[in-house]
Amino acid sequence: MSNINATENQQQAGSMSGDVQAVASVFVTTRDGQTHRLETQPGLSVMEIIRDAGISELLALCGGSCSCATCHVYVDPEFENRLSQISEDEDDLLDAASFRKQNSRLSCQIHFNDALEGLKVTIAPD
Ligand code: FES
Repeated sequence: MSNINATENQQQAGSMSGDVQAVASVFVTTRDGQTHRLETQPGLSVMEIIRDAGISELLALCGGSCSCATCHVYVDPEFENRLSQISEDEDDLLDAASFRKQNSRLSCQIHFNDALEGLKVTIAPD
């Protein structure tokens, strides 16, 4: 019962304040050295954010199923501790990828959330 009231109160507060989900930013540096500010909302993977912005050099051939490594990015050290832990599958794929660095991640495995506001990534060489 109290859970229902809490939900109703939150809904009323949201509708009174005209809440709209805040737009967040991701900064992506492409292989030509240009940095692009992409606007997004939590819930997408970083690969999806980059792909949806029309940046075609991130191939993402497997569509985000962690089986191709063509979505390889370098994460700015400032954000490394805010990411979820790397899975064994992702780690194995990165081991097989060219140009792996200590801050390499597969962007399809980075799920954007509020803690990643302002995330900076660089697309790895092909
Ligand atoms: S899109 Fe294939 S591993 Fe990320």
